Parts: sequence; structure tokens; C-alpha cells
Amino acid sequence: MKQNILLCKNHQQASLQAAALVAEAFTQNPTLTCTLAAGDTPLACYQELIRRQQAGSIQLQKARYIGLDEWLGLGPATPGSCLATMNRAFYQPAGIPQEQIAAFNGLTQDKEQERLRMEEILRQHPLDLAVLGVGVNGHIGFNEPGLSLTGDFALVPLSETTQQVGTKYFDGEATPLQGATMTLAALKKARRILIIATGKSKQAAAAAVLAGEEGLPVCAFLNHPGATYLLDEEAAGAQA
Ligand code: F6R
Repeated sequence: MKQNILLCKNHQQASLQAAALVAEAFTQNPTLTCTLAAGDTPLACYQELIRRQQAGSIQLQKARYIGLDEWLGLGPATPGSCLATMNRAFYQPAGIPQEQIAAFNGLTQDKEQERLRMEEILRQHPLDLAVLGVGVNGHIGFNEPGLSLTGDFALVPLSETTQQVGTKYFDGEATPLQGATMTLAALKKARRILIIATGKSKQAAAAAVLAGEEGLPVCAFLNHPGATYLLDEEAAGAQA
């Protein structure tokens, strides 16, 4: 197995391990620039980071945060939007000043201009760290399998799987059909990348990682020198 794949007992252990690695990066450089995935997977990791900050062992408030992705048509007032999730689960409890957070405005009237604004932000503030979840179809952010996106930030059609799975964020209601996302090319520029995949629903994605397959977005960082995959036993299944 590749050295940059960590097998963890369960979701909790993967979350604590991820938080320890994130804390290391923040300790080395408290003013780093990072992107943190929304979704359910990293929430326990974020809780642990906030706990560590409260305990005085790390400082999260000096860093710059750039939103990984967003559903087109949704803003922070919709609880299932990526920005609402990040506000609730991390930015607010961690006390991150508003001016240190940049995110694609899903409610924009001019999607292309908003996309260009995000590209410019990434140009001015290259990523040091990315904390990523994985879709059941192996997507990263909204980089869906089979899409080849150009530039650093892209507008994308969402796969049927992403739409179906995504209803969990919206009380079973339908998701938007399009999203906006940092591209894999942008994420690969980060010095440190953590990819967390836990639970049975991530078995196919984890199997692709463990087999070193190319092609699925989740596998894009297998040869990145700063990437660490954290898989739990349920995701790694019989492969572990
Ligand atoms: C969310 C995001 C998505 C999720 C992925 C896994 O910002 O980028 O790629 O990380 O869909 O979602 P969960 O963690 O809810 O299984």
C-alpha cells in the first residue's frame, strides 16, 4: 500500500487523525491559506480543531479560508448550502473574521464573473492546505468523474449521483443541477492535501484509491508529495 494512505479504525479515528495533521499545518504557519470541504465527512475533524483552539493549542483565526465549492442558486441562508454548512460547523464557532473568508456566491447573477473572481483570489492567495471529502462516485469538490475542467475554478453540471446523494443536505428536496468548484488543478497546487473517505458508501472510491487507479477525481492526488488519504475500515472494506 502506498505510504500516503492511512487506514484508520473508524470515522472518529480518521477525524482525529485528520485534525492532528491539520493542526500541524496551522502550528507551522497560522496565516496559511486553506480550503475546507463542506459535507458531512469532515465535521468531526472541524469539531476537534475548534476544541484544540479552545484548549489554546492552535490558532485558527489568522488563516485565510477559500470555499471549495457551492451549489448554483443557493446562498448562505439555505441551510444545506456549502457556505451555510461551513458557517455553522466551522467559521462561526471558530470565530473566523468575515474578511478572511472568500466563497463563490451561489446567488450571483453573473456566474462567469463570479468564477473569475474566485480564480483571481486563488491566484493572489495560493492554497497551502486542502481538507477534502469524497463523493460516493469518487468526486472531489464538484469535480465529477469524466469531466475535464480547465482553469482553477469552474462551473459544472452535477452528476445524477451527486444530485441524488445531495438531497440529504436539503431534507430530501431536490438539489440544484449545477455547481461551482475549485478544480483538481487548483487543488493540486496546495502543499498539503488531506482526503478523508469513511463509511460503506465510500467503498468504491476507496477501492480505486487502494488499487492506485487513475481516472477518478479521488485518485488525482495519489502521486502528490503532500497528499494523505485517510480511509476507515468500513470504506477500505476487504481491501484493508
Ligand atoms: C463538499 C464537497 C463534496 C463532499 C462529498 C462528500 O464541499 O466538496 O465533494 O466532500 O460529496 O460528502 P459527504 O462528506 O457528505 O459524504
